[in-house]
Amino acid sequence: MHNASMIQRSLRHVWHPCTQMKLHEAYPPLPIARADGVWLYDFEGRRYLDGVSSWWVNLFGHNHPHIKAALVDQLDRLDHVMLAGFTHQPVVELSERLGALTGLGHAFYGSDGASATEIALKMSAHYWRNTGRPEKCRFIGLAGGYHGETVGALAVTDIAIFREAYAPLVRLAATVPSPDARAALPGQSAADAAHRAAAGLQDWLEEHHAQTAALIVEPLVQCAAGMAMHDASYLRAARALCDRYEVHLIADEIATGFGRTGTMFAHQQAGIRPDFICLSKGLTGGTLPLSAVLTTDTVYNAFYDDEVARGFLHSHSYTGNPLACRAALATLELFEQTDVLGHNALLAQTLDQAFAPLTRHPSVRHARRQGMIWAWDIDEGFDGASPQPGFAGRYARHAMAHGVVLRPIGNTLYAMPPYILDAQTAVHLAHGALAALEATLADQGNTNG
Ligand SMILES: Cc1ncc(COP(=O)(O)O)c(C=O)c1O
Repeated sequence: MHNASMIQRSLRHVWHPCTQMKLHEAYPPLPIARADGVWLYDFEGRRYLDGVSSWWVNLFGHNHPHIKAALVDQLDRLDHVMLAGFTHQPVVELSERLGALTGLGHAFYGSDGASATEIALKMSAHYWRNTGRPEKCRFIGLAGGYHGETVGALAVTDIAIFREAYAPLVRLAATVPSPDARAALPGQSAADAAHRAAAGLQDWLEEHHAQTAALIVEPLVQCAAGMAMHDASYLRAARALCDRYEVHLIADEIATGFGRTGTMFAHQQAGIRPDFICLSKGLTGGTLPLSAVLTTDTVYNAFYDDEVARGFLHSHSYTGNPLACRAALATLELFEQTDVLGHNALLAQTLDQAFAPLTRHPSVRHARRQGMIWAWDIDEGFDGASPQPGFAGRYARHAMAHGVVLRPIGNTLYAMPPYILDAQTAVHLAHGALAALEATLADQGNTNG
């Protein structure tokens, strides 16, 4: 019983993320022995389709031969060297390529998404200080926004359960309305909801722009808010307002980047260029932790000086790790070798068909898709009651029983699969999601009854 002993050891020695550990007494974590393609395998040989790309990081499946070969090759050459005072081929090549892809440059590296958020916020405020306007040091985030959970990033993360316990530590940013299309009034469109949210942003900027360094947004999809999707016109309006009021626009593309929303980067669908872009998650194809922030020449040049303290002195030990950079290069090569975005557009049609019975389910509301993200909400629901507390957990357990990994957010269910599903695995994912929903609603009925 490998699973059982692995669970015991894990519960004794590992503090799992995003988890009330006591819940594991009833629902232990699932030990995974290996992964290949879209499948995760446990120690007893059962397999589960990775329908959330392992927290949205995996693009081309697990154990990808091209990324693996690049990593093995890199291990033979250079495992790691500090990036202060040194440089190396993978970090140079990756920075060149990310610059060409984003139209920004001067790639600064971190490890996780939250460290990219911290870097962008610090760079923005430091830019204003270096240009003689130190009072511009406040930030704006969107309602329901999520940008990571380190203390700095929590300032712009508007999700109460992640933030409340740390309120005394956090220097709260201002929160402006979300352009979430679901907020459109009856008879109105997603563009109307975006327009209303932009008016809220304008009101805030009108009064506070002199103290504001930057607005940070998750372009097109606020993922952790429950895959809240918005119209691209919001990003155009936000760009215009940031220009007018001299405020930086930070595009947090940590979750939305690398083809997830249908274009290489989500903000490109609005035809805008942000002042900063934060990248992570899919950057290494889901193999190693790496994040990057790219910015404009204007920002970079404000730090370029004889005075050391005017430089950006931020650092992490593993900044620009060669293995992680090499995995990222191999991931970008996969985008070059095939038309990934075109392939995904066709794959999305297959998945739309597979998901159709689910989206027509009487308990489902607001079925929506952006690129390779599918989401749907569970109706007020069962006998008019909201889904009961624990709905998400029960749903995820039923999904596992059907061989599918899904992690709902509140009463939103979503799928964010790797880009390598075929017709068969697409059907497995969609059928599993539907069967799990029905089983969860049946549970709710039993509990209500
Ligand atoms: C948009 C966005 N920003 C930042 C983060 C934080 O990334 P990490 O969990 O790697 O710190 C996430 C993670 O889900 C995210 O979705």
